[in-house]
Amino acid sequence: MVEQSLVFIKPDGVKRRLMADIVGRFEKRGFLFKHMELRQLTPEAVDTHYRDHVNQPFYPGLKAFILSGPVLLMVLEGDRCVDTIRQMVGPTDALVAPAGTIRGDLALSKGENVIHASDSPESAQREIAHFFGH
Ligand code: RTP
Ligand code: MG
Repeated sequence: MVEQSLVFIKPDGVKRRLMADIVGRFEKRGFLFKHMELRQLTPEAVDTHYRDHVNQPFYPGLKAFILSGPVLLMVLEGDRCVDTIRQMVGPTDALVAPAGTIRGDLALSKGENVIHASDSPESAQREIAHFFGH
């Protein structure tokens, strides 16, 4: 079943010059790139995107981090791509992410973990509409 996923490289990944590595992994895996845009998010956009986390104790730090520089937004398409991309990304805490995953290869932190990827087809539709809808 063809799906789309909303992915973005977080500001740490952009600043650390990891864009080509991460984009290359998705290209080589075979996903179709539907959108790609470097964008400085607004505080309102971050609150909307992370609406399920806004009351968490870590949220102020997360928000400041996501606003600390531009993110590279992507909409990727492929068969069952939401789950496949989450597998490629690895678990939230990069410290325990297996080698071979993006977080396991490129990050060491739970907060600054270089990439976001939609966690379900429903989240993907919401996030794509939020960032690229009219
Ligand atoms: P994401 O939404 O960014 O793709 O990450 P995820 O699904 O793996 O993790 P999620 O639970 O949705 O958390 C969103 C982001 O919040 C930051 N976070 N920090 N310090 C902490 O305890 C903590 N917990 C979460 C991370 O940047 C995480 O990716
Ligand atoms: Mg999440």
